[in-house]
This record gives sequence, C-alpha cells and structure tokens, in this order.
Amino acid sequence: MGSLHINGGKPLVGEVSIQGSKNGALPLLTATVLIQGKTVLHNCPGITDINAMAELLKSIGCIVTMDKNTITIDATHICDTHCPQKQVQAMRSSIMLLGPLLGRCKSVRMSRPGGCVIGARPTDIHEMALRQMNVRFEEEEDTIFAYTDSLIGADILLPFPSVGATENVIMAAVLAQGSTRLRNAAREPEIVLLCEFLRKAGARIRGIGGSELEIEGVKKLREVTMTVMPDRIVAGTYLLAAAATRGQVLLKHAPPHQMHSLIHLLRTMGAEVFADDDMIYIDAEEATGAVSYIKTGVYPGFPTDLQSMLLSVLAVAYGESVVEEAIFEDRFKVVEPLQRMGAQLSTEGRKVRISGVAKLRGAQLRACELRGGAALVIAALAADGESVIEGCHFIDRGYENIARDLRCLGADISRRDDVRIR
Ligand code: EPZ
Repeated sequence: MGSLHINGGKPLVGEVSIQGSKNGALPLLTATVLIQGKTVLHNCPGITDINAMAELLKSIGCIVTMDKNTITIDATHICDTHCPQKQVQAMRSSIMLLGPLLGRCKSVRMSRPGGCVIGARPTDIHEMALRQMNVRFEEEEDTIFAYTDSLIGADILLPFPSVGATENVIMAAVLAQGSTRLRNAAREPEIVLLCEFLRKAGARIRGIGGSELEIEGVKKLREVTMTVMPDRIVAGTYLLAAAATRGQVLLKHAPPHQMHSLIHLLRTMGAEVFADDDMIYIDAEEATGAVSYIKTGVYPGFPTDLQSMLLSVLAVAYGESVVEEAIFEDRFKVVEPLQRMGAQLSTEGRKVRISGVAKLRGAQLRACELRGGAALVIAALAADGESVIEGCHFIDRGYENIARDLRCLGADISRRDDVRIR
C-alpha cells in the first residue's frame, strides 16, 4: 500500500510536466471496443485506473500492449461481454463499457460498479437514456445485464449533465440505427476529446463542446491513433499546492484553456498567474486571500474534483471562506483530518465554512479516496513539521507519481512502500 512522508512549511519552487488525463484516457480506452481493429493511444497516464481498465479490456478479448505512456488495443476479436467483477469493481469508470459493448456486441453483463466514499454514484441516468435507445436491463443481485436486438437512435434529454452518462450515450449512438439527439449533455473537455476521437474513427457527431449533440449512426468505425490531452485536475492540484505554500511554480504541458475557473479564483486570492497555450506560471507569494463563497459546478464551473484540495488552501488563507459542493453528496471526508492538523472548518449540509489559520501542524493521516488524498498532501506541504499519509494507493489511482512531481517543485517528500512479508 505505501505511505508518503512529507516535511512541510516551505514554498514550492520549480517546474513540472503534467501527465496525460485520467478522465480523458479512460473513456477512450472503453471506446476502442467499438473499433474492429487497432487503436493506439499516446500520452496515457501510468496510473492504476488505466491498468485496471487494460485488464478489463483483456478479459473480454482485447489484445492490449503498453509501452510507457502508449497503449495499443486490438479489439478485432471481442470474445466475451461478461465483464469480471474484480476489475469492474476496481473503479467507477467500468460503467463506461456499457455503451461500447452494446454498440459492438448488443449485450453486456457486469456487476454494478458500486458507489464510493464520495457518494452513492447511481447509474439511473445511464439506464434511462440507454432504454430510450431500445436497450433492456435486467438485474440479478448486484449484476447488470443489458441487451438489445438493435440500438436505435433517440431524442434524449438528460435530467442532469452526467459525464459518464453522456459518454455512454455517445458511444452507443455512433453505431446505432438512425440519429440521436442528446440534450443537456455534459460539456467537460473529456467529452470533447471522446467526440474528437470518435469523429477521427469516422463517427458523425455535431455540436461538439456544447450541451446539445447530434449523432448520426454509421456502420463501422476505422482504426485510430490519438494523443490524450493533459490532466486538468493534476495541473490544478499543483497550482493549489503552490498557493497553499505561497510558492512559484511553472507547469509544462498543461491545459490552461480548460482551467479558467481555477485560474480566476487563484487571481482573486492574490496570486499572479500567467498562461499561454500549454504552460501556466503561478507566483503565489500574495495568494493569501480567503474566498467569501464558491460553489462547485459542472464544466466550465469550478471542478468538484478540486474541491477538497481548495479546502486545504483556504485552511491557511487570511479570513473566512465558504465552499459549497453541488455535485457529490458526500465529498467532505477531508474535513476531519484537516481539523486534526489545526484547521478551523465546519460543515453545514453541502457547505464548509473555513476560518483561515496562520499555520497547520503535521500529523499522521490516512487517504480514503483519490482527490481527498491529494488534498491531504497539499495540507501536509503547507504544514509545519512532518506528516505521514497512509493509503497512498488511493492517490495512485489518478497520479502517476505525485512524490516525483512534487520533488521537482522542491518538496521534501518521499514514499515508503510496505515491505511485503512473503
Ligand atoms: C466523472 O464521474 C469523473 N470520473 C469524476 O472524477 C468527476 O468527479 C465527475 O465526472 C464529475 O465531474 C471519470 O470521468 C472517470 P457524473 P461520473 O455522472 O461520470 C449523479 C475523479 O476524481 N449521477 O457526472 O461518475 C452522481 O451521483 C473522479 O477523477 C446520478 O445521480 O460523474 C453525481 O452526484 C471522481 N445518476 C453527479 O450525478 C447517474 O446515472 C455527477 O456524476 C449518474 C450520475
């Protein structure tokens, strides 16, 4: 499992390159199932969720080879549409195989991906939308069985712009009979990347980047090579780490055009931020201001995935802040450990009220989910003294090597993996 050991209390200074996007690469990997041939994906992040998805694709008959950050998937011979429980339950994003397997094989059987500590994470929107495309669902215990004699395009209005449901509908629609109109679609950059990937493979999609998509079904898709975009949440993590430590940091291969809400917020806190097409420079020496009120939202709003990390930054800002989490119902797990580090914050329903303190103190900490774990790292970097963060396998789900990246920024951080007693 492993733990991170951090001596905090000094500004981060340096430059770091940003890895490929986890939430961009995962749907592309599921979309390869739609292609009866080879797909090559460059700049995939070396993270455990990607490895788990690769294993899941292999379990249904794909030939998957990984060479550093390039993954080649040959989906010519998909032999099984029963996704094994172990891999499916390893991560939420396995649900995004629904659309592609229905599109390619007309059926899929998988255990329900389950919720996680940030919320129940139901799949009712996915199922409601796919039912309108002539898909039937049966459920036995915790297994979903979905099947269709043929996918038929439909006019679908999502009750909420769910990222995963949008991705599933797009991937089901590209090989469906007729056209699909998808309204109130999610607009995250990861959706745009998926649409660009599918268009490159011959899909017919209009309205890319907007909340209304028109998809005309085609007979077959062709082989594709694609490069995954940089990870905007990892980039945001390191900007927030710079802010918490009042440092000066340069991000290379970053996606500033996807990060306007965070960059604007950091400027209102007093940071100086400069950006051009693929780099971001932050001087956070004066980033001490509190944020009277911020609410997470769907893109292009403030990302829910950066909410916990923002709490770590506001814990040492000068003044009172209020953060409201509008996307997930249980995403304040980081409040208690921050309190143990000396932070003054309290929850009121979907809001957290924070009174900034001069300094946090290092502590024994334990990550229990991915982005909350990153928030504890940021708090430990800002805190005086040593912190130990157990459970860094949660962080490995989304960060290639957070210790390596932060050492590029001068952090005193090391990783100790549990010695496996054989
Ligand atoms: C994606 O999850 C991301 N994961 C999440 O990132 C991200 O937080 C989330 O989008 C929101 O931006 C991947 O892309 C792999 P949703 P997803 O469907 O698709 C509710 C990370 O840390 N909902 O937009 O699961 C749901 O419960 C992860 O990288 C339903 O009620 O998010 C939640 O409250 C965490 N019914 C809200 O919608 C449904 O059928 C947003 O969920 C589907 C969703």
